[in-house]
Amino acid sequence: MFSLRKLFTLAVVLYTPALGLNNGLGKTPAMGWNSYNAFSCGTTEAQYRANAQALVDLGLDELGYQYLNLDCGWQGSNRNSTGGFTTNSATIPSGIPALSDFVHGLGLKFGLYSDGGYFACGGNTGQFLGSLEHETEDAVSFANWGADYLKYDNCFAVSPTDTVDYNPPFDDHMAAMRDALAATGKPILFSVCEWGVQDPARWPGTNFGNSWRMSNDIADSWDHVFRIINQVVPITQFAGPGGFNDLDLLEVGNNGLTLAEQQTHFAFWAAVKSPLFISTDLTKISPEALSILQNRDVIALNQDGLGQSIRFRRRYTNAYDVWSGPLSDGSTVAVVFNLQDTTRDITFSYSDVGLTSAVVSNVITHSSSGGRTTSYQATLEGHGVLVLRMSDGTPSSPPEFTFYEAADPANTLNGGASTRVVNSTVTVVGFIGNGGTLTINGVDGGTEGGTKLVSFDYINGDFTYFNTDCSNCRNAFVSVNGGSAVQVQMPISGQSWDILFSGYLVSLSGFKPGTSNTIRISNPSAFAPDFFRVGVEN
Ligand SMILES: *[C@@H]1O[C@H](CO)[C@@H](O)[C@H](O)[C@H]1NC(C)=O
Ligand SMILES: *[C@@H]1O[C@H](CO)[C@@H](O)[C@H](O)[C@H]1NC(C)=O
Repeated sequence: MFSLRKLFTLAVVLYTPALGLNNGLGKTPAMGWNSYNAFSCGTTEAQYRANAQALVDLGLDELGYQYLNLDCGWQGSNRNSTGGFTTNSATIPSGIPALSDFVHGLGLKFGLYSDGGYFACGGNTGQFLGSLEHETEDAVSFANWGADYLKYDNCFAVSPTDTVDYNPPFDDHMAAMRDALAATGKPILFSVCEWGVQDPARWPGTNFGNSWRMSNDIADSWDHVFRIINQVVPITQFAGPGGFNDLDLLEVGNNGLTLAEQQTHFAFWAAVKSPLFISTDLTKISPEALSILQNRDVIALNQDGLGQSIRFRRRYTNAYDVWSGPLSDGSTVAVVFNLQDTTRDITFSYSDVGLTSAVVSNVITHSSSGGRTTSYQATLEGHGVLVLRMSDGTPSSPPEFTFYEAADPANTLNGGASTRVVNSTVTVVGFIGNGGTLTINGVDGGTEGGTKLVSFDYINGDFTYFNTDCSNCRNAFVSVNGGSAVQVQMPISGQSWDILFSGYLVSLSGFKPGTSNTIRISNPSAFAPDFFRVGVEN
């Protein structure tokens, strides 16, 4: 029967932002150690014990790194005679209860790993048990073994022989284990690991887990870090107490990133409110990498009680990125990082985060500006980072734009560029690039012309699990009045072709006074995003 109340409930479900999983856990992102980036699926019990001990000996536990988490490889291949979960005695000779006791005895929390499919990741068919159709009894076993955390992967989700399926019933699988854990009565933080294949940040209610992996695995190079950073752009608003975007385990301390890149990776993960899991062999970590992980001020960004992520503010293509977000004390954190692999000077203007001036302190170097400033000069190493805590900020008045819709008949579409209607509400122009061009005609340059802030509303659903020239981004080349084209790199706006990014800002020169200006968008060798409208500052 039609019910207004149902309609209302539906509206609330659709329009309520992130709530997270309401199990009382994960109000701030989880922190700890996980074996995978150090030892893959071959971690031995001795290595787990040594790294648990190191968390304590290095004082990392007191900084918040509380969980010692197992990853793939601890599980047996077959269930026992009564269908129970078993342990791989070659890797964990003392068994899970003994290892769990050891970890708890150090004052740490203990995390287990399983999989929502027939078998787990990291092995062949039949190698490592999964929990599909055994969720209830496995949750009881994990609880009995003292698990405080469960990372739940998704290999072999639809078939015992197919490792990765891109459209499995992930939500059902995740909900089954979530509910089974809740039924045990033991508080167990639930970490959903479906690699972002079905955009879990947008699952209704976002209450499937205390965190959800939003991308394919990280690996130990900057390309991986940048791929994941681009992929989180459209979902930062879904992070909140009880449910966070998980950008994957840390690579700090491993060999593939420079120290500057490790610093950027750590600071970004912290400020975006990702869980922070050290994943290097702590018995061999260098003092420099250790000090990155020990920075209390960076950790404080991650553990801030407001639980809000930084969001993408501005990309100066091939130069630097600007991200910022609110903190519980009313201050703003800004994260600015060098997109080039060589050292450069940057001047970060506070207007890029909506402030005319503020009192700032440098979170990495622990230095303060003293008085009120309007910009900050920094020399950043290749892919290096500037992190500022900005207090007492004066908001700037937002710029005003005149908007030109891409599909307006006054514009010129050439070489295959064509219009597309989205949700029967918005018309965009797609197939720009590879010969297709969009020229916006009749743009008002005001009485002065010159350099103007230009705002783009676009759709880019070209997301990827792999590293490409522009992973999770597309390039547009924008030319004013036929002048030289400026490269503008635009991250994805979502994982489907119907989600807009509004207000991507670029400063462009070459405007003339009056209303006869043109803005031409192209890309000689790839496709650009689809454009909805372009705003030119009045
Ligand atoms: C099978 O495994 C379960 C879970 O670990 C355990 O409770 C049960 O006692 C085991 N059964 C046998 C026969 O070993
Ligand atoms: C189209 O609908 C989808 C699904 O409701 C929504 O996420 C998206 O924001 C909509 N896009 C536009 C441009 O309105």
